Amino acid sequence: MMVRFSQTTFNQTNNPILPMKKNQRIVFLLAGISTLFAACNHTSGTKAGSNNDTTAVINYQVPDSANFKDTLQGKQVGLYILKNKNNTTVAITNFGGRLVSLLVPDKNGKLTDVILGHDDLKGYEQKKNENYYGAIIGRYGNRIAKGKFTLEGKSYQLDVNNGANTLHGGYSGFYSRVFTAKKISGQQLELSYLSKDGEGGYPGNLTVKVVYTLTDDNALKIEYTATTDKTTVVNLTNHAYFNLNGAGTKTMTDDSLKIDADNYLPVDTTLIPTGKLQPVKGTPFDFTTFKTIGADIEKADDQIKNGKGFDHNFVLNKHNITTSIATVKSPETGIVMDVYTTEPGLQFYSGNFPTGINDGKGKAVYPHRSAFCLETQHFPDSPNQLLFPSTVLKRGDVYHTTTIYKFSAK
Ligand code: BGC
Repeated sequence: MMVRFSQTTFNQTNNPILPMKKNQRIVFLLAGISTLFAACNHTSGTKAGSNNDTTAVINYQVPDSANFKDTLQGKQVGLYILKNKNNTTVAITNFGGRLVSLLVPDKNGKLTDVILGHDDLKGYEQKKNENYYGAIIGRYGNRIAKGKFTLEGKSYQLDVNNGANTLHGGYSGFYSRVFTAKKISGQQLELSYLSKDGEGGYPGNLTVKVVYTLTDDNALKIEYTATTDKTTVVNLTNHAYFNLNGAGTKTMTDDSLKIDADNYLPVDTTLIPTGKLQPVKGTPFDFTTFKTIGADIEKADDQIKNGKGFDHNFVLNKHNITTSIATVKSPETGIVMDVYTTEPGLQFYSGNFPTGINDGKGKAVYPHRSAFCLETQHFPDSPNQLLFPSTVLKRGDVYHTTTIYKFSAK
């Protein structure tokens, strides 16, 4: 049964999102129901990505920092390493604020790189086959229909970079921008960027700060803050591609996933939400209890067809930053990832488009569906869907959201 958003309180506690005034009521119609990665210098005799044996020994390493040194857009680019007492290691480049490697211990204590990426800056700079590996996405995560919206009576036209639509901020999205980096400590990196008025077509000078913190309990916390001098729209996220079996292994479809969402947003054939809210019950989108990602990925279902797999925003149930909204478990490595967020939505993308990407870390080939993304965010196309939680940011207001990816192993 399809239901339409209408008058019901969208009651997210601890959801200090946008310029949504405190206790702002966002309305949904619930039809009578309440609802709502190096890497891999993959060595040890096994060329990652070249076979199906996910138990093969791969020695994961952080790429050589020298491969990330350059001056781009008048700024110094580099690779920044965060490490905690468990040797969990995160490598981040300030080009696009991208997560390059994320090495976490598996059930035997072996460090495993759970995100896809490239060995050098050049890999990230190439424009064709942009997959947004590990990038900060902005100003607007996911799609805006036809790249158009109206704000305070004024129409704006954005770059159209995905069929008829704008995806992930357009051609000058944050994934392609050089952030100013400040290492706060061995476990914390602050990245900042000024997105000028008119960049990509968006109004207002937007000052953005993203802080990555690696805690001693193996959590990677990402805090996004933004302010503007003119009313604009903002929706920031991270586009890490995860494979808990280890980056460079062929599949992730045997990983089990649970998402705390009773509803998701169906999309049209161009992946723009229809504006309706669909209960997940009885559909391939029901991840309310653990299910392998592969279980229903090929199901005969119009929405699976539109997404070429899963490429949909899940409407998260009532939660706060201390409640896990999604969990993924690898049967191979025993690695478990829990996701926490202040955001109301989660884009679950099952790596449907990239095929045979052959410049992965350690010369790995990343095939179709060898990773998934769990992008915490406001809903796609919100600037045109006025019943969705607002993504409008006004001068004087502060955008602040937090997302945590926490790792353990069993
Ligand atoms: C989108 C996909 C898109 C991918 C780009 C995801 O966030 O939902 O539709 O193809 O990003 O790599």
